[in-house]
Amino acid sequence: MELHVLNHPLVEHKLTVLRDKNTPSSTFRELISELVMLEAYEATRNLDVVDKPIETPVAPMIGKHIAEPRPIIVPVLRAGLGMLDGMTKMIPSAEVGFLGMKRDEDNPTKQITYANRLPEDLTGRQCFLIDPMLATGGTLVAATHYLAERGAKDITAINIIAAPEGLKFVQEQIDPSIAFKVVVCAVDEKLNDKAYIVPGLGDAGDRLYGVI
Ligand code: URA
Repeated sequence: MELHVLNHPLVEHKLTVLRDKNTPSSTFRELISELVMLEAYEATRNLDVVDKPIETPVAPMIGKHIAEPRPIIVPVLRAGLGMLDGMTKMIPSAEVGFLGMKRDEDNPTKQITYANRLPEDLTGRQCFLIDPMLATGGTLVAATHYLAERGAKDITAINIIAAPEGLKFVQEQIDPSIAFKVVVCAVDEKLNDKAYIVPGLGDAGDRLYGVI
């Protein structure tokens, strides 16, 4: 597993405002969107491109263009939806699939899949799994194996904050034959006994969409 932590003053600043419990949902959503755009720069470093001949107003040239098949962005419902707008701004030609996975509150290392809307065949596709919090790592392991079993060429997880316990779990559990990378803005201190990231930012879904 390759881990990239964005060490950048702008990211640190935005993250501090995001974490603040007094930050309203509207600002929280904006910041998530801005942070994922900054992460996308690192996450898409190995995006497949092909030559594309064009003419500028001055001369012909061979440019680069995102290759087919199109990359797929997969938000993990519900909180991952908050990162979708930023990702599709950065890769407007990407396809979007949805995966509904949540942790079993009675057993935080177990996952329940309650929805999926993805092509059955992902052969050759570069996939971007988006979910703000990499906490226990259970969802990420399940989602990555789900995509890899359908033939994904490589899988990049984009999270805002990760817990060391979750990163360790992911490192141990994800099949090493899968081309897999994680991009995060920060690695926090630990998980608490309710599997929330400390200091974290609280419940990302609730802060994005309000408590339901
Ligand atoms: N999910 C969240 O929204 N927050 C955490 O701290 C952990 C999991």
